[in-house]
Amino acid sequence: MTAAPAAAPTFDKGLANTIAAETQMSFIDGGKGVLEYVGIDIDSLARNSTFEETVFLLWNRRLPTAIELSALEQDIRAEYDLPAEVWQMLRETPRTAHPMHMLRTLVSALGMFDKDADTNTPEANRAKSIKLLAKTPTIIANFDRHRKGKPMVKPDPTVGLAANFLWMLNGAVPTAAVAKALDVCLILHADHGLNASTFAARVTIATLSDMYSAITTAIGTLKGPLHGGANEEVMHMLNEIGTMDNIEPYIRAKLARKELVMGFGHRVYKALDPRAGYLKTFAKQIATDTGNERLYEMSTKIEDLMRAEVAAKGIYPNVDFYSATTYHSIGIDLDLFTTIFAMSRISGWTGHCMEQLDGNRLIRPGASYVGPHGVAYVPASKR
Ligand code: CMC
Repeated sequence: MTAAPAAAPTFDKGLANTIAAETQMSFIDGGKGVLEYVGIDIDSLARNSTFEETVFLLWNRRLPTAIELSALEQDIRAEYDLPAEVWQMLRETPRTAHPMHMLRTLVSALGMFDKDADTNTPEANRAKSIKLLAKTPTIIANFDRHRKGKPMVKPDPTVGLAANFLWMLNGAVPTAAVAKALDVCLILHADHGLNASTFAARVTIATLSDMYSAITTAIGTLKGPLHGGANEEVMHMLNEIGTMDNIEPYIRAKLARKELVMGFGHRVYKALDPRAGYLKTFAKQIATDTGNERLYEMSTKIEDLMRAEVAAKGIYPNVDFYSATTYHSIGIDLDLFTTIFAMSRISGWTGHCMEQLDGNRLIRPGASYVGPHGVAYVPASKR
């Protein structure tokens, strides 16, 4: 018996109508504005969970017992520190480097100091996922110190990932409210279906490359302003607008020129991004606590104006819009915003890599050739 011919593949620009993977990690209903991690609503996780517990949920597809959570927390804390060579590389990194270039480079470098870098067993990949998750905050915070000419600060293995990051960044113990604010942001950014950087990570690991290569690929993909780089662009926009009075002319002129307003729109959500809904309430609280009310008020005015102008097209604030106000209020420099996104999304990227390797198949779509055929080769001397 001959096999039935496969259906002819169709061209789908941007892969918007293509399902390219199965996942048990996150579910999105873009029409209704729903996001769940392993069936649990994101709002419920943001209110009740911690980042570490969310990581366990994504990696194991169930909530941990108290003992399991404590074990994962200890495993992560034991990996906060960097190999001596990577500390040295940090010291030699150009102070003017963009933090995302730095992060992509040093996360890639970590692979050179892991003897199991190329072992793709589930146990080795889980250990590498923990290392990547634990070491990234140390790299980001200490790069910021290095470029400001401040002494490096070693991680504190007695506290959770968010508090440890803020401790290293500022060289001071953060308030519980600020550490909680960052922890919630990390939960909200942890996973999001087959977004561009997650897809990139899955493509890389599906070649049976290695976890460090996959996460390096993902960081490079996240960096773009149409993806994770948007939160930095939102802050640039808020700074550029400057005053409440300038909001209306600025946004109207941008829309008239058919330019994108950063922090709005989403490939999947055509209703309010549920992460943005939660972050808005959160941004208000943290902005009020830290004296950044004006920034929050500017943001809501932009949202109202955009709602009147473009909500009919299904364009609403996305996760990046209110995370800009939140990160600024926490005291994080604007060019670090996308690295915070990466710090969180490493949980999703590594989870997807482990999921991809469980029943792996090379990801290799086709391309529709639209060039000429039968062209004669012309020697260079005759061109
Ligand atoms: N501002 C103004 N108009 C917009 C925007 C925006 N931010 N987003 C989409 N539109 C318009 C777009 O011009 C198009 O108009 P028309 O039908 O007249 O040509 C219409 O809305 C449909 O947009 P689209 O291009 O089909 O949307 P897409 O699914 O290809 O793009 C997007 C999604 C996120 C790339 C896009 O909305 C965008 O560039 N937004 C700004 C960047 C941003 O905030 N990115 C973060 C995304 S969420 C976090 C993450 O994934 O990292």
